[in-house]
Amino acid sequence: MSQKFLNQIAVVTGGCRGIGKSIAIKFAKEGAFVFALDYQIPDENEVFCENAEIAEKIRCVQADVTKFESIEARFNEIVKEKGRIDILVNNAGITRDNLLIRMSETEWDSVLNTNLKGAFVCTKAIARIMMGQRYGRIINIGSVVGSMGNAGQSNYSASKAGLIGFTKSTARELASRNILINLVAPGYVRTPMTDQLSDEQKKIFLNNIPLKRIAEPEDIANVVAFLASEDSSYMTGQVLHVNGGLYL
Ligand SMILES: NC(=O)c1ccc[n+]([C@@H]2O[C@H](COP(=O)([O-])OP(=O)(O)OC[C@H]3O[C@@H](n4cnc5c(N)ncnc54)[C@H](O)[C@@H]3O)[C@@H](O)[C@H]2O)c1
Repeated sequence: MSQKFLNQIAVVTGGCRGIGKSIAIKFAKEGAFVFALDYQIPDENEVFCENAEIAEKIRCVQADVTKFESIEARFNEIVKEKGRIDILVNNAGITRDNLLIRMSETEWDSVLNTNLKGAFVCTKAIARIMMGQRYGRIINIGSVVGSMGNAGQSNYSASKAGLIGFTKSTARELASRNILINLVAPGYVRTPMTDQLSDEQKKIFLNNIPLKRIAEPEDIANVVAFLASEDSSYMTGQVLHVNGGLYL
């Protein structure tokens, strides 16, 4: 296993489950120390990762990405302890699906608040730290529906489309400080979020995926790792689609 992130410090929001957990494990395997910031952190007795050596390099920390002051305090604690933060992955996200005419304001607000404002909060809080270091990699997790839309997900797709504009604007603002900001847009991935879909919905998705399989969280983590590594040092403001050909 290569050690692309040896001695680097990474923060992954929503990092205790699903895609975020897989990203945290990938970074730790490749040498980073990872803070998995999550609304819901695992029980002390729960085995987060079978490999104890890797588990030691991941710390789950309770945090809510929608609250600026508490996120800023968490980041400052990390810098105090570890000296820097090299990588931020804005991964925390939720769905509250409904058809537009049935969608409540609460369903709209909560999704925009977590998925879009959450990325703003974390990026703003980390910008000063990374500017001071003159180094940083930020990867936002969007979604294929931010580009193609999806009936029943006007709130979610709006939040993910918003993240594309946010990625491009912040990439322009921070490039001169060697802070690179890109977005990974997954298609349909096997996680607790998609476990909620009905069999009918899953069948429809699968029929439309040319690679004829849904993604594993590792398929997404591998591309995130590429964007956090030196292999992508001339890329910023880009959207990388990882969807098995669902959206071309
Ligand atoms: N699963 C998919 O098919 C899929 C497809 C495209 C995009 N995505 C995106 O990938 C990301 C991860 O999705 P997932 O499928 O792993 O979801 P998940 O529901 O399995 O995990 C999301 C994690 O985010 C955390 N979280 C939610 N709100 C938070 C908050 N306010 N503060 C901190 N943490 C919070 C949750 O506690 C959870 O651990 C999301 O942004 C999602 O929109 C997922």
